[in-house]
Amino acid sequence: MEGKEQVKAYAEADFSQANAQFSRLFRSAFPEFRGEGRILDLGCGPGHILRDFALNFPGCTCLGIDGSQAMLDQGLAHVVQPNTSSVTLQCSCLPFTDDCRTWQVILTNSLLHHLADPGHLWQTIIKCAAPGALVMVMDLLRPCSEQAAAALVKKYSGQEPQVLQDDFYHSLLAAYRVEEVREQIREQGLDLQCSKVSDRHLAAWGRISP
Ligand SMILES: C[S@@+](CC[C@H](N)C(=O)[O-])C[C@H]1O[C@@H](n2cnc3c(N)ncnc32)[C@H](O)[C@@H]1O
Repeated sequence: MEGKEQVKAYAEADFSQANAQFSRLFRSAFPEFRGEGRILDLGCGPGHILRDFALNFPGCTCLGIDGSQAMLDQGLAHVVQPNTSSVTLQCSCLPFTDDCRTWQVILTNSLLHHLADPGHLWQTIIKCAAPGALVMVMDLLRPCSEQAAAALVKKYSGQEPQVLQDDFYHSLLAAYRVEEVREQIREQGLDLQCSKVSDRHLAAWGRISP
């Protein structure tokens, strides 16, 4: 996501509901997590989710990577705050294979449907995850029709700028169904579960084998 108007609209939009849902899902999937270690956010965008993790888990080292410097630039001011975990944002594209097998937590929200090859996400997770790492993937869920997609856009982003509404519509139609994500996970030999978690989201989560 590099377009100036698109990036600005995304960074200014209110995704607090979806971001809170991501944090809730993480806490309910991994109640034992005490906030230590290294957290990697793939396709972090402006870094809102990573900022929430840094605030809630002050003992971590957090890295967000995103292929768009323009998106990262929108986020820096929000993320770097005192009394939080250390947060670094870095411009890198998937597949990302730095620091292999050293990340205790891998997060990603709303990236999967952007990738030309969804395998790049799962392969990155496999390469980066430390043994026993916690993985939380959330993404949009493809609706059953274009009409259903248009209804979701109207319901959730009818007040947002047109560029954001268009983006949401196209993203919904580019997203996967639960069965498709389960198949991607199975193909990669990962042990993650995947479910519908709202009328427009799915999530996949689990632990990487120790
Ligand atoms: C819809 S935004 C989600 C941003 C953030 N995760 C959030 O929840 O707000 C998708 C992000 O994925 C990034 N992206 C798309 N393809 C990518 C790739 N191959 N490698 C890294 N980042 C990518 C885009 O630049 C964009 O910032």
